[in-house]
Amino acid sequence: MDFSAKWIRPRQDMGDIAPVFRRTWATGKEITSAKLLITALGVYEAAMNGERIGDYVLAPGWTSYQKRLQYQEYDITALLKAENELCVTVGKGWFRSPMPGWLESEDKKRRKEQCAGLFAEIRLIYADGSEEILATDRDWECAESAVRFSEIYDGETFDACFRTEKWEPAEEFLWDTKILIPQEGEIIKEMESLAPKSIFTTPAGETVVDFGQEITGYVEITLDARAGERVKILHGEMLDKDGSFYNGNYRSAKAEVNYICKEGKQTWHPRLTFFGFRYLKLEEFPQEPKLEHFRAAVVYSEIEKTGSIRCSDDKLNRLFSNIFWGQKGNFLDVPTDCPQRDERLGWTGDAQVFVRAASYNYDVERFFRKWLRDLAADQRPDGAVGQVIPDYLPEGKESAAWGDAAVICPWQIYQTYGNKEVLFEQFPSMKKWVDFITENTADQFLWTKGEHFGDWLGLDAPSGSYKGTSREDFIASAFYAYSTELLIKAGRVIGEDMAVYEELYRGIVRTFRKTFPEYRTQTEYILAVQFGLAEDLQKSADELAELIQKDGVKMQTGFVGTPYILHVLSRYGHTELAYSLLLRTEYPSWLYSVEKGATTIWEHWDGIMQDGSFWSEDMNSFNHYAYGAVADWIYEAAAGISHAEEHPGFEEVRIAPKPDRRLKWLEASVKTRHGVVESKWTCEEKGIRLEIHTPVPAEVELGEHKVRVGAGSYTFWI
Ligand code: BGC
Repeated sequence: MDFSAKWIRPRQDMGDIAPVFRRTWATGKEITSAKLLITALGVYEAAMNGERIGDYVLAPGWTSYQKRLQYQEYDITALLKAENELCVTVGKGWFRSPMPGWLESEDKKRRKEQCAGLFAEIRLIYADGSEEILATDRDWECAESAVRFSEIYDGETFDACFRTEKWEPAEEFLWDTKILIPQEGEIIKEMESLAPKSIFTTPAGETVVDFGQEITGYVEITLDARAGERVKILHGEMLDKDGSFYNGNYRSAKAEVNYICKEGKQTWHPRLTFFGFRYLKLEEFPQEPKLEHFRAAVVYSEIEKTGSIRCSDDKLNRLFSNIFWGQKGNFLDVPTDCPQRDERLGWTGDAQVFVRAASYNYDVERFFRKWLRDLAADQRPDGAVGQVIPDYLPEGKESAAWGDAAVICPWQIYQTYGNKEVLFEQFPSMKKWVDFITENTADQFLWTKGEHFGDWLGLDAPSGSYKGTSREDFIASAFYAYSTELLIKAGRVIGEDMAVYEELYRGIVRTFRKTFPEYRTQTEYILAVQFGLAEDLQKSADELAELIQKDGVKMQTGFVGTPYILHVLSRYGHTELAYSLLLRTEYPSWLYSVEKGATTIWEHWDGIMQDGSFWSEDMNSFNHYAYGAVADWIYEAAAGISHAEEHPGFEEVRIAPKPDRRLKWLEASVKTRHGVVESKWTCEEKGIRLEIHTPVPAEVELGEHKVRVGAGSYTFWI
């Protein structure tokens, strides 16, 4: 697209204050079409003649800004009058906020020092056929807005009494326009709205509003006030053991809203930031707070819900709900680790762990394709993939199971949706990652002597460490094998000659087996079986089952082992044990957090410990989706909905449920590119009834028997 706009900014840096830019014009001629093309360095909200344009929250979204910056296009014809005023407020957003919170770096310094910028064109077509473009340039004006402070971690301050005056011509400046790309992902929107459940006074005497559900978004307040009265709100995820407000785990993120009221009845919400929260602490509120004063806007990318899982057990249903909420709370333009503390980054490992479940729960094809383009854009010259994408930790080392997102995510997106384009597009990046490992290992055919996150948060971690005891070289080499295997499969799909990689893969498997003849931890067993590296898969799976029994029917796994543990067990005949882990309620388990009142998935199995106290403030998010990856086992194994790799996108379906009589019934459905697949089993006295619906031919596995059926609805007995 050709643009005539120039980048503009305030003449003087306004510090924390969000600048507002405006363009006024009058037209005597009849207009047939008016479009606004717009983007910003920061996050913007635009209004035409006082009316908000579009419903994109935090536009232009988050990409690897140095290389890719999305612009948006809005039809503003209906908003035009004879006299017009376009105003655009630009907050710091991801572009200028001091991210991440816990670390100083050159890159962060550079980002903090950048100036807010605007780039826009109003494209007018008149009834007489003539055209006009009002593009950002020196004719646009700039002033301080009522947003006195706005930042991703610290929140927003808005002075409703502030009158924007002192307009000055904006200053043109040079910034690359070749980086501009049309909107790629779904836009971020207010997707849901929640009313508070209660308002109460805590033992510490605080006034707290409870929404009953942890969400990502912001609060909207409606109140009647005198000009100058103040509202001050803090956000929190949990109450402490005494029932008082707690947000120590937000670390340096202030997550604070400050609002200075105008006179009379008013409604306001922050517009240029977001929070992860369930509770609000009202530090200042000008009147007796009532439920009707608050509304929580749930904000996430406009992804379509495609999956559903339900069963006869209420606790599991709560877990499933928590998984969906975890996804909503962390699919805000990029897949983030968490939405609340001074982090909120696109951690590659977390995304890789969760992508499969995510792709059944919601249609995330577009969402991931956008993020993967950023991953490729930020891939380092030697092929290394950073820890987070967009890469806000450029000094951070690459890690196995994190960087592998470069290969695992595109492959999964292809598998779930069947569209080869993602492979064509990502293949060079996938290949670069595998080549990077080949070039950077100490020992050929393995990945040794790297620095990794290991089995992050593994329960078998030595005290004081976040890393489980599984050997890092083991994990890294296993993922090297897995990524190479997936790369070969991807290459074959798009017609590449993969002979060199096939040879490499054989070398890796051979060397892995020689170097790691035995497995020491649950996670090591899991990876060896899941990635097909163990020589005798059945035997290793049996040994894993024994080890789990010996460990007291408890997981010892972290980020790396947990997503596959149930798959490995049920695939090799240990379904009952898989269910025992799933249904376990004591720590550590998925249902432990449910018993402790979780409404999203926790970063630690014991974010709240057995005695009610918190895991250290240092790292204790209550909205981290990674362990929600268990949902893919529910879809694929428990309900049994899957497809063979040769039938990506569910063009043919396999339905092979694995029921367990500890549940009365379980059902799942996935809306695929070919229609909705459903599977429900119910335990009855005379057997287990299976009801399925398939929009395409399916192979149904009923215990030992296999049946092929055409599209349709069927009932079977197992
Ligand atoms: C993040 C994780 C991430 C990890 C990497 C944490 O601070 O929240 O989810 O994957 O660091 O070790």
